[in-house]
Amino acid sequence: MKSMSYAAVAAAVALAAALSAASPAACAEAAGLALAQQKNCMSCHSVTRPVMGPALHDVAARYAGRDGAATYLKRKILDGGAGVWGTVPMPANTQLTPDQAATLAAWVLTLK
Ligand code: HEC
Repeated sequence: MKSMSYAAVAAAVALAAALSAASPAACAEAAGLALAQQKNCMSCHSVTRPVMGPALHDVAARYAGRDGAATYLKRKILDGGAGVWGTVPMPANTQLTPDQAATLAAWVLTLK
């Protein structure tokens, strides 16, 4: 009986450790996608394939490890622009607060 309760405690500890390791990243990922859907980003973007704009995992791959990528993407998301992925422009996303743009930029960079 005693050994069973130790096993149960060990299992609970292992589960808690696994959950606390996994959940912050998983939460940030789900929150980023929800915000992108809510802010209409996903009408022109998909994570996995080009639509009107580039696939967001291609964006993440392009800027992986680049200094200042989060700041650059935050600005670009707010102001829009063209010429990086083609001639089609992204319109300025005036529906966003700067904090939301920063959240979306950080989320995009996790998608590689
Ligand atoms: C009307 C269509 C449209 C909407 C809506 C849109 N995008 Fe874009 N997005 C584009 C296009 C087109 C490009 C490519 C621009 C370029 O080539 O410089 C782009 C580029 C990007 C890039 C890469 C920028 C770069 O310079 O490499 C990111 C990141 C991005 N969009 C995120 C977002 C987010 C986040 C939202 C929602 C707030 C959003 N987009 C909404 C069309 C759109």
